[in-house]
Amino acid sequence: MAKASSPIGVFDSGIGGLTVVRALMERLPFEDIIYFGDTARVPYGVKSRETIQSFTRQIAEFLLARDVKLLIVACNTMAAVAIDQVRSLSTVPVLDVIDAGARAAVEMTHRGVGVIGTPTTINSNAYARSIHALNPAVHVHSQACPLFVPLVEEGWLDNDVARLTAREYLKPVFVEQIDALVLGCTHYPLLKPLLQEVAGPRIQLVDSAITVAEQTAATLDRLSLHNPQRVAPHYQYVVTDVPLRFQTIGSRFLGRELTHLEQVRW
Ligand code: DGL
Repeated sequence: MAKASSPIGVFDSGIGGLTVVRALMERLPFEDIIYFGDTARVPYGVKSRETIQSFTRQIAEFLLARDVKLLIVACNTMAAVAIDQVRSLSTVPVLDVIDAGARAAVEMTHRGVGVIGTPTTINSNAYARSIHALNPAVHVHSQACPLFVPLVEEGWLDNDVARLTAREYLKPVFVEQIDALVLGCTHYPLLKPLLQEVAGPRIQLVDSAITVAEQTAATLDRLSLHNPQRVAPHYQYVVTDVPLRFQTIGSRFLGRELTHLEQVRW
């Protein structure tokens, strides 16, 4: 049973989901958050469906045991192939970045939608399915961009390598008639200024981190689940490994210092 005073549980394959935590902190400044990042087993974006489903179940169970009031699947790859598993085991409402991003894109577009993400997300066709379930007439053009995750983790957000890579990946998408581009991966919001520059002013970027934070606020309203205590919130970060430069990269994603870190070993 979801309790209003409980924290929101957010999870991802690694630290990329901190972009969602950042959006939640800005949108819902009085909510406690527990973030789980599977830093020992990241990246998920190139793993098989079965492996991702089993890891995802394990993480969802961990957070439910911590008594969260809402589960947010911040990882696009997990949402693409394991959302049914999470929904079937969860005792609390579940939100995910793909549903949120698809809804925002359908509202925004008049011509067509581009979607970029990891190879697993794009091969799953999950965004196209979600968009077509909302409006079958919208044209969707998808493109896997596997080099974006390492570029962002390297901090190469605005240099020639990043710019050329973006141009090369997006060339086939821009040939199509699109007016919205869904950033279908936790890491891509950090590339927003560069992607907007490459896309030009006629294409709007859909940031799933922001849209899922909006959906979270609406869900808390609807279910009367806002934290009744309007005091400084408690943030907790659980990871399966503390890799080199974790603090630096994590803080970049979060936009503030990472504290209250807990490591679990599975
Ligand atoms: N979190 C993943 C996503 O949003 C990107 C990193 C990974 O491949 O695990 O798709």
